[in-house]
Amino acid sequence: MDTIDWSNLSFGYMKTDYNVRSYYRDGKWSEPQLETSEYLNLHMAATCLHYGQEVFEGQKAFMGKDGKVRIFRMRDNALRMQSSARGILMAEPPVELFEEMVVTAVKKNRRFVPPYESGASLYIRPLLIGTTAQVGVRPAKEYLLIVFVTPVGPYFKEGFKPTPMVILREYDRAAPLGTGRYKVGGNYAAGLPADEKAHRMGYSSVLYLDAKEKKYIDECGPANFFGIKNNTYVTPESTSILPSITNKSLMQLAKDMGMKIEQRRVPVEELSTFEEAGACGTAAVISPISRIDDLAENKTYVFCTDDKPGPVCEKLYHKLRAIQYGDEPDPYGWIT
Ligand code: COI
Repeated sequence: MDTIDWSNLSFGYMKTDYNVRSYYRDGKWSEPQLETSEYLNLHMAATCLHYGQEVFEGQKAFMGKDGKVRIFRMRDNALRMQSSARGILMAEPPVELFEEMVVTAVKKNRRFVPPYESGASLYIRPLLIGTTAQVGVRPAKEYLLIVFVTPVGPYFKEGFKPTPMVILREYDRAAPLGTGRYKVGGNYAAGLPADEKAHRMGYSSVLYLDAKEKKYIDECGPANFFGIKNNTYVTPESTSILPSITNKSLMQLAKDMGMKIEQRRVPVEELSTFEEAGACGTAAVISPISRIDDLAENKTYVFCTDDKPGPVCEKLYHKLRAIQYGDEPDPYGWIT
């Protein structure tokens, strides 16, 4: 393998040695199969290509100082994939199968887990697709679950540094009773035009509002939103956002640090009351937000003016990373 510059990895794709596959046919999942090819042999009429029968997960493995590789909250990802699969009528992979495939993919690609000092990690991407060839709009009968991995650096190029975000009221990400709460590819496709526009204007991401009333904060698309004020961690409750496992973990950590937790609707105007704000997710970890511009309303909400994350973001980030890399014990049972 060419030498990898572990400390300068982007959030991209790099070929690794193996991926793991299981096929669902006649109502049964096959034994996991180890594959070296990065390609799929797929029928051109497969339902994943035409009708979006595709769900995925994002999770990470971390190399500790002790040389052990730790996978974070694997069972939660398995359960969320089941929920996403149910959401668009796909076969649900059993938790044990999902976990076995994830562990195998990490073990077989161990040489791609970035070293502790790099601060990078191994991104794990389980992918479930409908493979039955048909042109009628119906759920597939056959499915393929693949788990592949790739070493990654930070999702937002700033890493753990405050970054600006923007509200673009002319775009919606997901409908209140639609698929926003499932990890389906279509949600991310729907977000591309807004994200492109935001990037062109120098923002790292869009902050979406609820699609029905345009009154409440939803999420950033690739990450959930949280705000901090008066020793309280506030994060949106909404039927159109992805239940982020990182957000759930931060709520637990914040609670155990003695903070109050409020998961509820968050009106846009409340942004002016937060002392700190951030985006969180597996890929993003925590991305502190420096300011949010609500362009149509001609309003700016500023959370920090220097390059430094706020003290609560800082504390939460280091606590989470310490558990993920094994620097501190895991009292929650999050690590495999
Ligand atoms: C993740 O955080 O793992 C995700 O799947 C988000 C994705 C846009 C990279």
